[in-house]
Amino acid sequence: MIELDTNNIPKHVAIIMDGNGRWAKKKGKMRIFGHRNALNAVREAVSYARKINIEVLTLYAFSSENWKRPAQEVAGLMTLFMQALEKEAKELNSNGIKLNILGNKSQFSDNLQVKITQVEELTKNNTKLILNIAANYGGMWDITQATKQIATEVKENKILVSDINESLLQQYLCTQQQPNVDLLIRTSGEQRISNFLLWQIAYAELYFSEVLWPDFNEREFSQAVLAYQQRERRFGCSE
Ligand code: IPE
Ligand code: IPE
Ligand code: MG
Repeated sequence: MIELDTNNIPKHVAIIMDGNGRWAKKKGKMRIFGHRNALNAVREAVSYARKINIEVLTLYAFSSENWKRPAQEVAGLMTLFMQALEKEAKELNSNGIKLNILGNKSQFSDNLQVKITQVEELTKNNTKLILNIAANYGGMWDITQATKQIATEVKENKILVSDINESLLQQYLCTQQQPNVDLLIRTSGEQRISNFLLWQIAYAELYFSEVLWPDFNEREFSQAVLAYQQRERRFGCSE
């Protein structure tokens, strides 16, 4: 196994879990077969994050734009989401993991919204790892919803326009007090952001893996972290 520098573990890792459809197609199966097999890779990523003491892991599960897919695929994804929450809640809780769903939850079915609230409530005091699942999430939506909240508070005289600065706006994003992303990984060889976290990746290191998401494992994850450890982060300074 790859040796990592335990003093330089990224605090916040975000992953665009892409390639389920292509993985299924390669096996001559329907796309949903790929989505079903994505859950094993999610489990492995979560357990690895826990093992190397990552503080926040954010996984992109469904974008604001993914509703444009065929109704059957969308319905299949919603069913899988519900099943995963039902199946994994206890295990997440016993492993000290706090689950947050990031995104516009109001567009989900009532059942799914209730389940999400239950799991978030069950795990809210856990401190070993924050697991954000971005579902019906868009980076542009996140900044927009933050702006709306701030505008409302200004209108209600709770904050002044002169109070608005970067650190205030950040508090209104779905990720609230969490640290910004250190390492962003995308699988399947695509090299784009696809409206994932925008603000929060301002200074993230980007890592693109050729592996299709259902094949992503501890080894791939550790290679991404190793690559991160070999980068020089400058944050705008000269050296
Ligand atoms: C990522 O896999 C999962 C979701 C977007 C829900 P895709 O379904 O995008 O798989 P590809 O990119 O078509 O292979
Ligand atoms: C991004 O993947 C969204 C998720 C992985 C959930 P997509 O497959 O939807 O992105 P594009 O359409 O290839 O940019
Ligand atoms: Mg895709």
